[in-house]
Amino acid sequence: MSQLRFDNKVVVITGAGGGLGKEYALQFASRGAKVVVNDLGGTLGGAGTSSRAADLVVANIKEAGGEAVANYDNVVLNPEGIIDTAIKSFGAIHVLVNNAGILNDSSFKKMTEEQFQQVIDVHLTGAFKLTKYAWKFFKQQKYGRIINTASPAGLYGNFGQANYSAAKLALVALAETLAKEGQKYNIKVNAIAPLARSRMTEAILPEDILEKLGPDKVAPLVLLLGHDMVPSTGGIFEVAAGFYGQITWQRSGGSYFNPNDSYTPEAILHKWNELTTFEKGSQSSYPRELKDYESAFKKASRMPIENSQGKVTINSLKEKV
Ligand code: NAI
Repeated sequence: MSQLRFDNKVVVITGAGGGLGKEYALQFASRGAKVVVNDLGGTLGGAGTSSRAADLVVANIKEAGGEAVANYDNVVLNPEGIIDTAIKSFGAIHVLVNNAGILNDSSFKKMTEEQFQQVIDVHLTGAFKLTKYAWKFFKQQKYGRIINTASPAGLYGNFGQANYSAAKLALVALAETLAKEGQKYNIKVNAIAPLARSRMTEAILPEDILEKLGPDKVAPLVLLLGHDMVPSTGGIFEVAAGFYGQITWQRSGGSYFNPNDSYTPEAILHKWNELTTFEKGSQSSYPRELKDYESAFKKASRMPIENSQGKVTINSLKEKV
């Protein structure tokens, strides 16, 4: 297979001064992309600023014969500045990697509202603002690729990371919705949940594990998700240590109650095992669209539902919502 290239493509990567973002920048540039290396150069907790991190990555790219420009804007405070750097320097933007992030962990009991908001702001609001500004260019040119950086902590929850995990799962939801809104404009949006060696993980994982978690193993998936040929939109991918896989929602086979059952907490408790089983043969399914959600009610929708206006069905309710 011929190499997937990014000639004439402009890629904006936020938080690309170190860790994962740096590796993405180097790899995109090595395949012909013009890269905007954004990073405000702060600490892991989000304090301070420095142009050094982004400048070093740009220097590395240029030494290797690639094209890149640095940008030091904060994704929350000046998202337009980041996208404008791409437009002014290279005349376009084709790929946006929402990667910038910070940590401010603490148990939920001790977490302040400020701590919660700060992390939501950088990850989620930053990605929202950047994407919103890039969207008009993507829509105009009928081309865009967006990669949102989620996290296993977002998919599964993690002790001490209520702020971070809430932001990260929200980035999945943002990707799922934008994938639908972008479909007719050839804008493809996916989310990744990576694990990699960086300053985020160096203090918490042992060296023998970190050795296997090179960011160079995450970057190839991000490149593919940023390419013309990406086969997916609205996908959630796990990627770490050379493993690449997709995550999806799974619905249990569930249990239908009929009007004679009386809809009570006791009746639900009685059928709990049946309605929460995912075992083979249990008719569990993999919904991807809102219409798949509705399919769960197919059987129920044939049942009359009484309201004050008379009898209505789930289907006719949907039209009113
Ligand atoms: P990192 O700390 O090396 O990279 C994050 C970069 O974002 C830093 O260079 C930082 O200066 C920059 N940044 C922070 N706030 C910014 C802002 N407001 N504006 C612009 N730049 C800002 O950490 P790493 O691991 O490379 O993280 C990259 C992304 O991957 C983050 O979103 C992180 O949450 C996510 N992630 C990382 C995992 C890992 O195992 N390393 C696991 C799951 C998710």
